[in-house]
Amino acid sequence: MANNLLKGKRGIISGALDENSIAWHVAERAHEEGATFTLTNAPIAMRMGKINELAEKTGSEIIPADATSVEELENLFSKSQEVLGGKIDFVLHSIGMSPNIRKGKSYGELNYDWYQKSIDVSALSFHKMMAVAEKQDAMNEWGSVVGLSYIAAQRTYPFYTDMADAKAVLESIARGYGYRLGKAKKIRVNTISQSPTKTTAGAGIGGFDSFFDFADKMSPLGNALAGDCANYCIFLFSDLSKMITMQNLFHDGGYSNTGISEEIIEQMGK
Ligand SMILES: NC(=O)c1ccc[n+]([C@@H]2O[C@H](COP(=O)([O-])OP(=O)(O)OC[C@H]3O[C@@H](n4cnc5c(N)ncnc54)[C@H](O)[C@@H]3O)[C@@H](O)[C@H]2O)c1
Repeated sequence: MANNLLKGKRGIISGALDENSIAWHVAERAHEEGATFTLTNAPIAMRMGKINELAEKTGSEIIPADATSVEELENLFSKSQEVLGGKIDFVLHSIGMSPNIRKGKSYGELNYDWYQKSIDVSALSFHKMMAVAEKQDAMNEWGSVVGLSYIAAQRTYPFYTDMADAKAVLESIARGYGYRLGKAKKIRVNTISQSPTKTTAGAGIGGFDSFFDFADKMSPLGNALAGDCANYCIFLFSDLSKMITMQNLFHDGGYSNTGISEEIIEQMGK
């Protein structure tokens, strides 16, 4: 289903760890749609993941960067322009990590050093990326920046603890930079609020499998898969979505607007 939607566009795709990663699917689709891009991830994830396989498949160069380090992000944006031969048209922020979730801390027991780490990795890195892009004037007019979020930014999900706060910050940063970069260069900034998805980050959350099934039964269309999310990202990177900015866009099969479904009522009655 390739339509050359990104033909001639240059991008930076973060967060592809393995073939389950949402970013992995985005890279595959962006390649199919004619984009050229660099791949990036934290140096430690490079050793654990399979990013080399993806780079080979998509003809992309890997530029390691810890997304909490402004210096490493500066290198990422300057090297990417060098490698790709011009300014950047699209950026995917697909980065999330909470030490508190990893260690199973409840919301009332959060370790504050780890809390700051969660916010830094999962939200401030989005700000840092755009700050670097702006200072280097690294992006073309009508460029598009997309971050991945979750509905826990609006509603409480007890197991999502400090990541819920990080996602709220992420979505706010999309509005702040959406205004600023929109005024300066017509660059669009949005977040996609994605269904629960079976990835390394997803599986790290307590009770994920039950919650995945619950959301699937609540959503009239079922959960959106990583591949569906990739298609939505491609649309947002393309010129078809030129006037969409500063939005948090639900991509969840209808979950966010469903009160209760027949399937859940049936299950509760058992
Ligand atoms: N899986 C879900 O259920 C779900 C639902 C909604 C939103 N999201 C969001 O989608 C995004 C991608 O996650 P995923 O589900 O594809 O899981 P994933 O584990 O495949 O991807 C998360 C990525 O973040 C990277 N990362 C962590 N710390 C980093 C750092 N310091 N610097 C650079 N990269 C770092 C990891 O190496 C990994 O590649 C995240 O923002 C996540 O919160 C996931």
